[in-house]
Amino acid sequence: MRTIVVLNAKGGCGKSTISTNLASYYAFEEEKKVVLADYDPQGSSLAWLAARDEQWPAVEGIAAFKEPLRHGKDTDILIIDAPARVHGKELTELVRRADTIIFPVLPSPIDMRAATDYMQELQAVGKVQRNQVKIGIVANRVRENTIIFAELYEFLRKIKIPYVATLRDTQNYIRAEEYGIGIFEMPPSQVYQDLESWEPLIKWLRSKRSMPDK
Ligand SMILES: Nc1ncnc2c1ncn2[C@@H]1O[C@H](COP(=O)(O)OP(=O)(O)OP(=O)(O)O)[C@@H](O)[C@H]1O
Ligand SMILES: [Mg+2]
Repeated sequence: MRTIVVLNAKGGCGKSTISTNLASYYAFEEEKKVVLADYDPQGSSLAWLAARDEQWPAVEGIAAFKEPLRHGKDTDILIIDAPARVHGKELTELVRRADTIIFPVLPSPIDMRAATDYMQELQAVGKVQRNQVKIGIVANRVRENTIIFAELYEFLRKIKIPYVATLRDTQNYIRAEEYGIGIFEMPPSQVYQDLESWEPLIKWLRSKRSMPDK
């Protein structure tokens, strides 16, 4: 089993959106047995699951903020949707579970500053220092050709964490959220740009670069 944690202390950067779309990707495209653990009492991932129709490949949900993280032995992919403001012991605990961490960042000065501080905190965790978990940054809600995206790009280039994908700002994610599906389950003609933007992230997730050193 592989555990992917979607993590950033900043609220609203896209943790739940990326978690649910990743669940949709693995269940729909790779036909994996996917468990989606929601660590956030807001329950965004669970609300997404509740909206998910039976016609779509099953994703098992766990309200991990209030119940133990118990799942079947046959689970292929465990996706953890982290809440905002995870620090200290709670952070160490989530990192302990992770093989791979996806770190979404929004192109805004406040988010970029917060991301720098949080990345330092994350890199101070022993397991991260030992390379036993790999981190990839995803720029989210990007509007290309804006000055702020150029600044975000420059910021991401400087920090020594792999910058693996750029997702644009689009209603497609909001529509998908409403129906409990991911962009992978929407008509390709409607989401082809977004499918393309996920390709580098999927490629990274499939490569050794996102796998922890033993
Ligand atoms: N790429 C995107 N394009 C358009 N809207 C987006 C995108 N990513 C996220 N959103 C929207 O932004 C809002 C915040 O996203 P989301 O809930 O995924 O963030 P979060 O990090 O999980 O927030 P929280 O810290 O509150 O849990 C949601 O309404 C979501 O639909
Ligand atoms: Mg969330």
